Amino acid sequence: MKKVTVTASLTYDVIIDNGILDRAGEESAKVIKPCKAAILTDSNVAPLYAERLENSLKSVGFSPLRFTIAAGEGSKNAENYLSFLNFLAEHQFTRSDCIFALGGGVVGDLAGFAAATYLRGIRFVQIPTTLLAMVDSSVGGKTAIDIPAGKNLVGAFYQPSLVLCDPEALNTLSEDIFADGCAEVIKYGIINDKQLFEKLKSPIKPQIENIIEACVTDKRDIVTADEREMGVRQLLNLGHTAAHSIETLSHFEISHGSAVAIGTAIIARAASKLGYCPVNDCEQIIAMLRAYGLPTKSPYTAKELAEVALHDKKRNGETISLIVPFGIGNSKIHKINVTALEEFFAAGL
Ligand SMILES: NC(=O)c1ccc[n+]([C@@H]2O[C@H](COP(=O)([O-])OP(=O)(O)OC[C@H]3O[C@@H](n4cnc5c(N)ncnc54)[C@H](O)[C@@H]3O)[C@@H](O)[C@H]2O)c1
Ligand SMILES: [Zn+2]
Repeated sequence: MKKVTVTASLTYDVIIDNGILDRAGEESAKVIKPCKAAILTDSNVAPLYAERLENSLKSVGFSPLRFTIAAGEGSKNAENYLSFLNFLAEHQFTRSDCIFALGGGVVGDLAGFAAATYLRGIRFVQIPTTLLAMVDSSVGGKTAIDIPAGKNLVGAFYQPSLVLCDPEALNTLSEDIFADGCAEVIKYGIINDKQLFEKLKSPIKPQIENIIEACVTDKRDIVTADEREMGVRQLLNLGHTAAHSIETLSHFEISHGSAVAIGTAIIARAASKLGYCPVNDCEQIIAMLRAYGLPTKSPYTAKELAEVALHDKKRNGETISLIVPFGIGNSKIHKINVTALEEFFAAGL
C-alpha cells in the first residue's frame, strides 16, 4: 500500500493499493461519517466495478445510490451535470452526504464539479479507474464540464476528501486507454522528474504502483505550491496547448491522452529546433512516446492549431504561456507573443 498526503485548501490522502475497491467503504468511513452516497459512474465502469463499491459502502453503513452516464467525453456536459444535481435534490442529499466518482477523468471532473456546486459544496471521494485519472485528474481539485464553446470552460477548484486508486482496475482497460494515461505519466518525467522518465524505459505494468505514487507525489508537490494555477501549476499543462486544439479540431475523436502525446511531441521538437532543448533529449522524448504506443504527428496544420489555441482560456492578453522542455526533467514556463504561436507550432511539426 502507498499513501500520498495532499495539503491544499483541504488535506486528504491518496491511497494506492491493489483491491482497495473492496475496502473503499472502510477507508471512506475514516474520513466521512457514513451517510447517503451518490455514486457517479459511466456505462463501461458500472458493470465492472459499481456493485463491488456499493457492497463495500453498505458494509460500513453508507447508503449508496447509483447515477450512470454514457461513457465518453461527450457526457461531460451541462445536461448530465443538471440531471445529476436534480438526482441529488430528489434524493434529498444534504451537506452531510457525499458523492463518489467511480470512473475515469470524465466521471471525476463531472462529479467533482457537481460536488463543488451542489448546496455550495458537499464532500466527494475520487475512485479513479483509468491510469490518466489515477495519475492526474483525480488529484489536485480541478473540476469542470465542457460547454459548446469549449472544453473545461465551466469548473471550479474543489478538492476531494479522499482518493482511492486500485491498480487492479487497470487490467480491464483497453491498450489505447491505458496508453492515454502513459502520456500524462511521461509528461511528469519531462516536467521535473528525470528519475521517473528513466524508470519508464523499463516496462511500466510490473512497477505500476510505484509509477502512480511517483506521479501523484509530483502532482502533489506542484499543487501544494500553487493550488490555483497562478504560477508553477501551469507546468502541468506541458503539451496541453496544442492538445486542446487537437481535441477540439477532431471533435473529441482524438482522446485527451493521444492529443497530449502529440502536443508534447510538437513542443519538444519546437524546443529543440529553436535551441532551448538538447536534440538528444528531444529524440528521447519522441522515442518514449512511441514506445508507449502514442501518436507524435499532428493531423492539423500550425495555423489550425494556433487559431483554436488563441481562443483558449489560457490566453492572457497579448501573450500566451507555453511550457517548454529545456531538457528532460527541466521544463519552464515560457511566455510568447500570441502572434508568434503559429510559428512556434510550425517549428514543432
Ligand atoms: N481535472 C484534471 O486535473 C484533469 C486532468 C487531466 C484530464 N482531465 C480530464 O479527464 C478526461 C479524460 O479522462 P480519461 O482518459 O480517464 O477518460 P474517460 O473517463 O472517458 O475514460 C476513458 C474510457 O475508459 C473507460 N473506462 C474507465 N475505467 C475503466 C476500466 N477500469 N476498465 C475499462 N474501461 C474503463 C471509460 O468508460 C471510457 O470509455 C478529460 O475530460 C480531461 O479533460 C482532467
Ligand atoms: Zn491532461
